[in-house]
Amino acid sequence: MCGIVGYIGKRDAAPLLLEGLQRLEYRGYDSAGVVISGKSGGLKTVKAKGRVRELESRVPKRFSGTTGIAHTRWATHGAPSDDNAHPHLDAAGQVAIVHNGIIDNAAELRAKLVADGVEFTSETDSEVLAHLIGRSAAETLEARVQEALSRVEGTYGIAVLHADFQDRIVVARNGSPVVLGIGENEMFVASDVAALVRHTRQVVTLDDGEMATLKAGEYRTYTTEGSRTAASPTTIEWEAESYDMDGHDTYMHKEICEQADAVDRVLRGRIDDRFATVHLGGLGIDAREARAVRRVKILGCGSAYHAGQIGAQLIEELARIPADAEPASEFRYRNAVVDPDTLYIAVSQSGETYDTLAAVQELKRKGARVLGVVNVVGSAIARETDGGVYVHAGPEVCVVSTKCFTNTAVAFALLALHLGRVRDLSVADGKRIIAGLRRLPEQIAEILRGEEEIEKLAGAYANARSMMFVGRVRGYPVAREASLKLKEVSYVHAEAYPASELKHGPLALIEPEVPSVAIVPDDELLEKNRATLEEIKARSGRILAVGHQPQDVADHTIVVPRNEPELDPILLGIPLQLLAYHAALALGRDIDKPRNLAKSVTVE
Ligand code: F6R
Repeated sequence: MCGIVGYIGKRDAAPLLLEGLQRLEYRGYDSAGVVISGKSGGLKTVKAKGRVRELESRVPKRFSGTTGIAHTRWATHGAPSDDNAHPHLDAAGQVAIVHNGIIDNAAELRAKLVADGVEFTSETDSEVLAHLIGRSAAETLEARVQEALSRVEGTYGIAVLHADFQDRIVVARNGSPVVLGIGENEMFVASDVAALVRHTRQVVTLDDGEMATLKAGEYRTYTTEGSRTAASPTTIEWEAESYDMDGHDTYMHKEICEQADAVDRVLRGRIDDRFATVHLGGLGIDAREARAVRRVKILGCGSAYHAGQIGAQLIEELARIPADAEPASEFRYRNAVVDPDTLYIAVSQSGETYDTLAAVQELKRKGARVLGVVNVVGSAIARETDGGVYVHAGPEVCVVSTKCFTNTAVAFALLALHLGRVRDLSVADGKRIIAGLRRLPEQIAEILRGEEEIEKLAGAYANARSMMFVGRVRGYPVAREASLKLKEVSYVHAEAYPASELKHGPLALIEPEVPSVAIVPDDELLEKNRATLEEIKARSGRILAVGHQPQDVADHTIVVPRNEPELDPILLGIPLQLLAYHAALALGRDIDKPRNLAKSVTVE
């Protein structure tokens, strides 16, 4: 959510910054801007409402300089506009800042600055930072930034340029990611490694409360109070090529199609056939501790929460530990009872979602043990948690989550199997689940081979006024995730309900213009699910069923391969990702960048 990129070195900064912004555009795409400290001194700025390509078209030919910072915005305070786009400058035009996050006391600071005669040029909360830094009389740029930050409350990832300190960029982090990229006689900074990986694989991830000064060829890190910190570089494990579109028209399509390989990756090296279990090296809990767990509580947002719901069912079924999932955003505000015998699990693709991170911090403060199920290695949630399971889906660029959802569900299956086998799951059941896990990649490939059929179905359903998604027990999180996918990428209204709840109210919505998607696996609830199909048909509702055999009552059925009942939810949702994708395509939507959304919600 909002992207920052910065460069200091010997090369021309503008093309590098614009390319970096393109890579970060999935983090926000309502406006963008760039500032360069020019050869003749002074700062040169260009800003534009709209996409990065709009900014690019406005950058003049002579926009040279070897130091600069840039930003792509997802609006929080102030509508998308040229003025509200970052960078923001102080009144003298000497300081430029780009900022991710929210300054909570911006209104109060703004009022004080206005009373002192400062004229604001934007409606953003971020602009106060530029003025505070600009008005500081401290000797160094670092001290001026520290002084300004001591007055703000809220979250930030910032990069600062100053016309009088042209040899450096100063950056700081509190709640919004900042990563330094170390090149040869050049330094980069970004809010996401996506903008760095083409230039360097050596990175330093700042902690909350940490700052850095970047000069061409050197950097130093320190706290906002000024004490030095020893941040050591790590190597990015993702290849630059994994950010390419690879012949697909959208990242969403690419990422859906990658799922067989992605699932193969999350399984690789973890299965132990001898003991019918899995090894999860980073879990950090031994068998005795695992046996002592009385409850599991899974916390995440959006698709991560839905994957957590599948995870809770898997843990309950395989390990027989009571488990449930809850939106992290709700949990952190409801003064929940934190129980020492409960194992808490935070789940997040980006590892940066603020609500999930805040829930983890609150839990840790209260002494809870928290594990992470996370995709981005070294991300804030991965670092805050006591251990966990990496999801290994590779970079997910489309704003809408697909492959990461699937891999997260598989990671939970591994965790559930591990917990099950140190508790009461039999060897035979362990072997059965392992065999099922091994079948997943080929079964995913088989589902994806049916894309043409699903595309035709999407055409038939794309013009629905609204759609109802229903599933029972294992099928319910599948229905929820499929409904979220459809609405966020195609903007078709969709609701998800437990199939059993339909007759308690939502049935009133069913009519020919409101088709239903029903998740109908061949499990012990098949007959109950068939009864739901009859209820919908009796109200003239159209039905698209997803299950293991054609359903006579349904107008259409997408048949998916059968796995083990516990693992079926992992497969049942995949055709519905394609359904959402093709519905969005038929409706001419901007698939990788749906309106109003951005990847990694790093604000509350
Ligand atoms: C939906 C989607 C979002 C994210 C949610 C959490 O397609 O992508 O609902 O799942 O914002 O993000 P992470 O997993 O990064 O914590």
